[in-house]
Amino acid sequence: MESLRDAERVIATHFAQSDAPIVVKADRLMAGKGVQVCGTADEAVAFAATVGGTLVIERCVRGVEVSLHVLVDGAVCAPLPLARDHKRLLDGDRGPNTGGMGAIAPVRLPEGVSVDGLMDRCVRPIAVALASRGTPFRGVIFAGLMLDGANPTVLEYNARFGDPETEVLMPLIADDFVSHLLEPGHAAVRVHRGAAAAVVLAARGYPAAPETGRPIVGLDRVPDCHLFHAGTRREGSQVVTNGGRVVVVTARGDDVAEARARAYQGALRISFDGAQFRRDIGGVA
Ligand SMILES: Nc1ncnc2c1ncn2[C@@H]1O[C@H](COP(=O)(O)OP(=O)(O)O)[C@@H](O)[C@H]1O
Ligand SMILES: [Mg+2]
Repeated sequence: MESLRDAERVIATHFAQSDAPIVVKADRLMAGKGVQVCGTADEAVAFAATVGGTLVIERCVRGVEVSLHVLVDGAVCAPLPLARDHKRLLDGDRGPNTGGMGAIAPVRLPEGVSVDGLMDRCVRPIAVALASRGTPFRGVIFAGLMLDGANPTVLEYNARFGDPETEVLMPLIADDFVSHLLEPGHAAVRVHRGAAAAVVLAARGYPAAPETGRPIVGLDRVPDCHLFHAGTRREGSQVVTNGGRVVVVTARGDDVAEARARAYQGALRISFDGAQFRRDIGGVA
């Protein structure tokens, strides 16, 4: 809707009939700050007024959030393992939303749900529709899904890889991934057995106002992990923090429990003043 007055009316009507939260979204790029799940009418109206512009108001879908990345070339599709991001800053999914504090893959699915089934419901139809109307898509579709039992709802499609999901997907891929990128979707992507987990080391003050310029130690003392430098820079012979999310530590294991244990062992070897990270990545797999 285009006006705040319209939004207020929709919000008031909703809360007159229901106690369920409502979701208010700005209809534009907002660097991850354009969506709020609002439990009261006051909160929803205040958020709508703050973001302004064209708004989308959605019913709140419940369930478990998962990320499905799919290589697509026209109607041809090949999925990557299902991943789960951990968006909130603090353990137990508390605190403000962030760009992502950690991830795991693959996600264990409820009985009766498969990646192929999710593809059929949520991704193949859109790839086929885009191709058949003369606007074929080539690249990666990252569908953000909410799974309520066996029932998926698409929250969003992104035409790019997700972060930090990509940091757990890449170590799981057993093929030469570049060849898949050159011919997306044309062959099934082979993956390693087991699982991967990623822990994000963030700076003090993240996400509101991260500190930067702190020397990082231990980067050369992390065996069995992949380190993704997200917000670092060289300063002379040192590596210093240079962003909110500083380093992502990823490890593989036979299962999520082993992968997360290795990733945490790695994360604990890296330190900088003000480092913060979640202790429960993959704990609810
Ligand atoms: N309809 C909805 N019901 C419940 N939660 C939602 C809904 N839409 C979005 N969310 C929550 O808000 C988050 C951000 O929304 P999303 O559409 O992914 O926007 P962004 O472009 O910021 O990634 C989602 O990851 C999800 O947790
Ligand atoms: Mg999103």
